[in-house]
Amino acid sequence: MNSLKPLVMGDLTAKHPIIQGGMGVGISLSSLAGAVAKAGGVGIISTAQIGFKDPNFLKAPMEANLRAIKTEFDKARAIAPEGIIGFNIMVATKKYALYVKEAVMAGADIIISGAGLPISLPELVEGTKTKIAPIVSTAKSAMVICKMWDRKYKRIPDLLVIEGPLAGGHLGFSLEQLAEYGADTDDVPATYRQAAYDEEIGSIMKVVKEYEEKYKKHIPVAIAGGIYTHEDVMHAMELGADAVQVGTRFVTTEECDAPLSYKQAYIDAKKEDIVITKSPVGMPGRAIHNGFLDRVAGTKAKITHCYQCLEHCDPNNIPYCITKALSNAAEDHLEDALLFCGSNAYRADKIETVDAVMKDLMGCPA
Ligand SMILES: Cc1cc2nc3c(=O)[nH]c(=O)nc-3n(C[C@H](O)[C@H](O)[C@H](O)COP(=O)(O)O)c2cc1C
Repeated sequence: MNSLKPLVMGDLTAKHPIIQGGMGVGISLSSLAGAVAKAGGVGIISTAQIGFKDPNFLKAPMEANLRAIKTEFDKARAIAPEGIIGFNIMVATKKYALYVKEAVMAGADIIISGAGLPISLPELVEGTKTKIAPIVSTAKSAMVICKMWDRKYKRIPDLLVIEGPLAGGHLGFSLEQLAEYGADTDDVPATYRQAAYDEEIGSIMKVVKEYEEKYKKHIPVAIAGGIYTHEDVMHAMELGADAVQVGTRFVTTEECDAPLSYKQAYIDAKKEDIVITKSPVGMPGRAIHNGFLDRVAGTKAKITHCYQCLEHCDPNNIPYCITKALSNAAEDHLEDALLFCGSNAYRADKIETVDAVMKDLMGCPA
């Protein structure tokens, strides 16, 4: 079999140390998260505009989203009654606290939060069994979140996710940092780009150690970004990780909630089609180059409807609406969509099952 240990987070144990990263809009909902949880990993539903299919979404997006948190969770739980199922909730979400509380009420095993530092997360889950995990990309942000939680709440993360520059979706790096890691170009081999970031992972591990010693308790760490094969998983483990968080590899699965056309766009993509783009969120993001990106480059959109997605968005000053661009992808309108992906999306050559991906990542024979 394999030598990978289960992932233990307090009273929760995932048989396999593989967390499926939350992917919005509509890419990781109940079907994908349920399948991963059933296969022994950690299944994560993204709350980013999770209610986009609700008939009332246009009129009252937030209410539709809050409703969908419970329905998606219940559907995933029905697929994996014993599995670990949680939510990815971006800190940048408008009314973040409401989403967290709804996820806790739905029964979330864990909440993973990035796209900002989840400073208030501990008080939002207080008195419940829901585990909490911040996503960090630098030692500086790891230090800030651990220090804040220690001072304000006398607690440490139940899991820390380190997301590197090869990840998909929004990235926690400036364009300059991405250039430093060679992650803004397809000219540099991925192995080199990974190695360039390993040093930062080492610095984050030192921060983790400091707080483990203070609390005399292990803090499990998951490494994310560019993990596609068993070798990548083993490399993360050699760096001291307890688990990996994987996004892109799960997109081209049968169970992934994205439409087939989205999965096919990954299969068709070549390495040079994968680009860094600046999203209206103000952060760089990684996506498949398409006509939409060309059309919106350097423009200012006329926004006729605001979907209330982000706490800080100025609809008068953005190139396009991120909700519309991402939900178009989830609704099969790829020509008008932002196609988020990780740096390895071009490696997909077929649709697989979640079970097959889990086995491959674990290093088990198919
Ligand atoms: C299509 C797509 C959508 C994503 N959406 C989110 C999101 O809503 N919130 C978030 O924190 N991370 C998001 N991510 C990041 C993933 O959760 C994951 O950490 C990352 O993609 C890992 O890198 P990998 O894709 O190379 O495996 C997204 C990634 C992809 C590919």
